[in-house]
This record gives sequence, structure tokens and C-alpha cells, in this order.
Amino acid sequence: MLGGRFYFDVGKVLQIIEERFGSQAGFAKHSTLPTSTLSRILDNGYASAAIFRLLCSALGLPEDDLRCDASPAAAVPRPSARRQPGPAGVAPLCPELVVGRQHDFDELRRRLVRQPASDGDHTVQVVTAVRGIAGVGKTTLISQLPYEDDPALKSLRPVLFASVGKLSHNQAATRMTDILRSWGRALQIPGVENALIPDVRGSLAAHLAGKRPLILLDDVWDGEIARQLFVGNLKSVTVITTRDGDVASALSPRSGSVYSLNCLSHEASMDLLRHFALEAVEECPQGCAELADFLGGLPLALRVTGGLLRAATDRSDSVADVIESIRKYQRLLEARLPAGHLAGLDDIGPTVQAVLQRSTEDLTDIQRECFARLGTFPEEPAVFTIDTAALFLDLSVESLRSVLTELVIRGLLEQRDDKTFCIHTLMAMHARSLPG
Ligand SMILES: Nc1ncnc2c1ncn2[C@@H]1O[C@H](COP(=O)(O)OP(=O)(O)OP(=O)(O)O)[C@@H](O)[C@H]1O
Ligand SMILES: [Mg+2]
Repeated sequence: MLGGRFYFDVGKVLQIIEERFGSQAGFAKHSTLPTSTLSRILDNGYASAAIFRLLCSALGLPEDDLRCDASPAAAVPRPSARRQPGPAGVAPLCPELVVGRQHDFDELRRRLVRQPASDGDHTVQVVTAVRGIAGVGKTTLISQLPYEDDPALKSLRPVLFASVGKLSHNQAATRMTDILRSWGRALQIPGVENALIPDVRGSLAAHLAGKRPLILLDDVWDGEIARQLFVGNLKSVTVITTRDGDVASALSPRSGSVYSLNCLSHEASMDLLRHFALEAVEECPQGCAELADFLGGLPLALRVTGGLLRAATDRSDSVADVIESIRKYQRLLEARLPAGHLAGLDDIGPTVQAVLQRSTEDLTDIQRECFARLGTFPEEPAVFTIDTAALFLDLSVESLRSVLTELVIRGLLEQRDDKTFCIHTLMAMHARSLPG
């Protein structure tokens, strides 16, 4: 047991559920466990004492039969059952966890599948924009699209995804060439390797003729640059994400084609906190509920706070003290820094900054140093393998693994599979802002 956690044999639980109850929903009903709690503890592989007892009694098993030992490394959320092999083309990584976005997903899906094969004048490609503030979950939302078990969405193939990013004029041509060539390679179109932008675009258009591709352009900052990636044909379904309302309207001028993604509801925020820090929420429900509101339902801030609270309960620190320390940071930041000049992180406010600063405060020296250096390492999209990071940091893979595990638990990195990790742009910026 670790910090009030009861680890259990997930495989055994899943087997019994399937044999005796047919489905997780059936078992949830029988056990009176909310389905969200059930799926969370199955993902985590542990539960609090109260929920663990409920689980054992609902399964009709003695507690000792289900208990197992687990190291903190094993407590990293397992890749969820949602993960499937990527669809053909260039797909984004499937999000590990998506909480409270059913309505937004349905709305987006509705717009995409009802989209006419082309605009009324048959000359303009239809583009849907998802617009929202930093860390609200735009990438997470659109990354679900290729993986849903939904015939209408599955018919949009191939998938062509690119994280475009903020580019200077000089960088833009190289980046566009790289993206277009990588799409050409993924579709096994010959001759794209040395071809220039117009030729690669031409080859892609010829290959996609008669198909209905799903083109996902994430993190767009400049509409003109993004337009170069509008390959395919008038039947293509193109979705862009951006923080910038003007970019969204310029690329998606049709009424109703800009979808504004807002922060999570209070209930979904609490679900997210519970997912990562169940014991903390049980220990201090009122404080966590106030914290969820204070964080304004921003998923990125909730994710990092969940990691912080979880680290606190692992060390048996007071949850209330951690919550107070975040608030203290926020008051300090508000008092000291003029709005818009927050240590170079212009797109986020003092609350999120407070969470980020507090989250790296009690890292060990080696954890902090690795995190700081990882902020300078991966290029966009910020995905890296443990092997390349070990080379870059001049560490053995074994010693780096324990550092990365802790950073993932803290919500500072995300883990996609055994070897692959990624760092969010805001986290990378925070990492680079850490004192050397
Ligand atoms: N609905 C959600 N459920 C759980 N976690 C989420 C959800 N939405 C976002 N997250 C997490 O919050 C973080 C930020 O999400 P994401 O990268 O999608 O934001 P974004 O809007 O694309 O930000 P940016 O503008 O910086 O690109 C990620 O770690 C992601 O895993
Ligand atoms: Mg994003």
C-alpha cells in the first residue's frame, strides 16, 4: 500500500467482471460504484481503502485475494482501453484520458459528418475551426476523432494530422515542406522526398482524388501558412485548432463553423482531479472543490494539480497545505507581475503559472534538471522516446525512467506508451523558465 492506496490485480478483476457481469456497466450497477469511479480505479490499478473494500465485497472475494504490491512506477496510468492501432495516414496520438467532453465531441462530430461535400459554390474547401485558450483541450478533443468507433468518422480516411505551431516567416517554408513530405511518405506516394511544395501538394491531391480525407491541423497561428496544408479535394474534412479568434474566423468564414471550446464544468473538473488524486479529494473534499473552481476548469491546470496532490498524499503531506501554497503563489504572482508579462508565458494567467511553479518546487535536483533540459530538447510536435532523451541528457535509460515516471505522475509530462513521452508547449516553456 502506498499513501492510503490499495493496489489490486486489475486483470483478475476484469476477468471476473466479464465472466459474471458481462460488462463494466453491469458490474457498476451491481456494485453501486459510479462507472466513472470504476473505470478510474481500473485504469489506475489502485483504490482508496473504502472503494477497495466495496470492490472486494461486490466481487465476492476476500481482500487478500485481490491485493497486490505495486511500486510507484506501476502507478502511472495504464494506456487506456481506448488506444487502438492508429488509422492509415498520419494520425495524432490517441489521448490517454478525456473527461467531460462528450457534448463538445458530439457537437464537433455533428458539424463534420453533416458537412456538405463542398461549399455551395463548389470551389471552396470547408474548414471547421476549434478555438480556445491555452491548455483548454483543443488538441485532446480533435485527437479523439480518428479513434472513435463511429462509422461516419471512420469513413473519413486517410487521416492527415500535423502540429503546425508558431512559425517565423523563415521557418514556415521548411516546416510546410516537412509536413507535406511526411504525409506523402505515409501515403507511400513515390518521389515526394526531394520534391518542392507545389509538386508534393499536386501528388497528394492526385492520391486523394475520390477519397474523403480527415485533415487535422493543430495549433495554427497563421492562416496563410495553414492554407498550404489544405490538400485533398472539396470533399476533404479539414479541422484546425487555434487560440486566436481572428485566425479561426479567417479560415472558417461560414457561420457556425468556428467551435469555441470552453473550460470544464465543476463536475468534470472534480472527476479529473479524482482520476489523478483520489485520496486527496477524499481527504479534503471541500478544499479540492474550491481549488477546482479556482482553477477555472482548465484541464491543463487540473492535470498538473492532480499530480501535485497525488505526490503530496504519497508523501503523507497535508492536502490543505498544498492547496494553500498554490493560492499563495498566485497572490504573489498577481502582486509582483504586471498582467501579460508573466515570465514570458504570455498566454496563461497567474493561476496557471502558480500551479506550474508550485508543481516543480519540490522536485529533486535531478528531476528538476532533467525537466528543465527536456524543455529545450524535443521539437514540435514535442514527442520523444526515452532512448533519445537518455542520449540527450547523458543518463542511462534505467535512471532516466524513474525520473520520467515521477514527471508523468506530476502531470509535467505525458506518457504515450512504454517508451514514448510528450511535453506540452506550456510545460516546455515553464521548463525553460526554471532557474539553471
Ligand atoms: N477533457 C480532458 N480530460 C482530461 N485531460 C485533458 C482534457 N483536456 C485536456 N486535457 C489535458 O490537459 C492538457 C492540455 O490539453 P491540450 O494539449 O489538449 O490543450 P490545448 O487546448 O491544445 O492547448 P494549447 O493551446 O497550448 O495547444 C493535456 O495534458 C491534456 O492531456
Ligand atoms: Mg494544443
